[in-house]
Amino acid sequence: MSYSIAIDGPAGAGKSTIAKLLASKLNYIYVDTGAMYRAMAVHFSKNNVNPLDEMEVDRAVQDVDIQIQYDNGVQQVILNGENVTGLLRTEETGKMASQTSKYQSVRTKLVDLQRKLSKTSDVIMDGRDIGTVVLPDAFCKIYLTASSKARAERRYNELVEKGMECDFESIKNDIESRDYQDMHRDISPLKQADDAVLVDTSDMDIDQVVDVISSIIQEKMKA
Ligand code: DC
Repeated sequence: MSYSIAIDGPAGAGKSTIAKLLASKLNYIYVDTGAMYRAMAVHFSKNNVNPLDEMEVDRAVQDVDIQIQYDNGVQQVILNGENVTGLLRTEETGKMASQTSKYQSVRTKLVDLQRKLSKTSDVIMDGRDIGTVVLPDAFCKIYLTASSKARAERRYNELVEKGMECDFESIKNDIESRDYQDMHRDISPLKQADDAVLVDTSDMDIDQVVDVISSIIQEKMKA
């Protein structure tokens, strides 16, 4: 039997950073489901699919094969035989992923893959619907969030550190519109599962978040 931990929350709450650290601490496999929606988005962009046209998206989904592999413990996303991991983290791809993840055809294909992965290993999986839809029986569910101001500040600092020019207000607006889109779609919207523990990281650093979640996991393991 394998064990699953679900981490859901809005963009920029620190899910992937925290999930990666916890996965290596606990010896679980980290599954980044956002990367799968992003890989789909790469396919749509490459093929000039209009994200507003559901029928066009449905047709394009039929040509998509996504596989997950691990290279030294790091998730690699293979889209129709090509490793696209390096193409996934752009703002454009994130936007396309948010727009197209509302469609049933996209979700069905990826949820199926996510459930298969959880059956073969102990996983920490992060996304938007993991605790509510993908792994409703996960033994530990975390809803990780932070104020949009705190999330925008983190993103702004990251970009400034990379020497990129950016505007704080527009980063904050993008975050808020992505939150709205992910929380208000009809199918599997982002929301806290009834049995998830809420962790607000607005005033915490990474080590503090890892400590808080580690103790929640320990409590759940004892229960
Ligand atoms: O976590 P991320 O920023 O990489 O996710 C990109 C988009 O993919 C996000 O805006 C919504 C979608 N997504 C989803 O609908 N369900 C998931 N489980 C993960 C991501």
